[in-house]
Amino acid sequence: MVNDKGIRVDGRRVDELRPIKLEAGVLNRADGSAYIEWGENKVLAAVYGPREAHPRHRQDPARALVQCRYNMAPFSVSDRKRPGPDRRSVEISKVISEAFSHVVLREQFPRATVDVFMEVLQANAGTRCTALTVAAVALADAGIPMRDIISSCAFGKADGQVILDLNKEEDNEGEADVPIAIVPRTNEVVLMQMDGHITKEEFDSGLKMAVDACHRINEMQRDALRRRYSVTTDTREAVKAISEGV
Ligand code: CDP
Repeated sequence: MVNDKGIRVDGRRVDELRPIKLEAGVLNRADGSAYIEWGENKVLAAVYGPREAHPRHRQDPARALVQCRYNMAPFSVSDRKRPGPDRRSVEISKVISEAFSHVVLREQFPRATVDVFMEVLQANAGTRCTALTVAAVALADAGIPMRDIISSCAFGKADGQVILDLNKEEDNEGEADVPIAIVPRTNEVVLMQMDGHITKEEFDSGLKMAVDACHRINEMQRDALRRRYSVTTDTREAVKAISEGV
């Protein structure tokens, strides 16, 4: 899994992320949307709201609900996945909802809901981190007020070495997988799960690695939003010319 030069099966160093491509505003019908390719993972996110929560008995008179649905397409994995919700997707939807509930300014929208849909089109380990990262961009694209754009990444252990952002082989063969999500501005942890075993020292060094990576990912998330909303001088002049009837 890791050779004596510290190189992994896919050629990465222990603290190296897989390549990430991120684009905001990819769907016309959603209030906000984004698409990500993170290594071999491909995930689309769509956000609706804030809108009135239905059925009414689910409304919170003091704040908005943040309802998330993580879904894996049947063709996203090597053994076809049975369509529809299962224990795993219900769990992932729940932990992602809880993470976003910490940053969305929910008190501004009593009785409302913000709905976040994440569709995994292709999976290669780390899809909950990928889904959360792209959904955070879609929430910002929808103009949902938040304390920060949260970012997510996993660390783990394979061949006795602490590694960042496990791929499928490392996830299967490795000793531990620890996905986290943080609020970059404050470094608060809003999601942390652990599969496997790891010592306290390994945990501390892995956590530092993943927090650093989340800061790099946050820059990519902001960059995707800047690309979506930046207006070049030429565009501004064209808009002015049109409005003046030139
Ligand atoms: O994707 P993530 O690492 O957040 O969650 P996981 O439950 O640790 O799953 C790891 C990987 O196993 C997924 O990313 C998929 O590539 C794969 N998987 C699969 O092949 N079939 C499933 N029904 C579920 C997951």
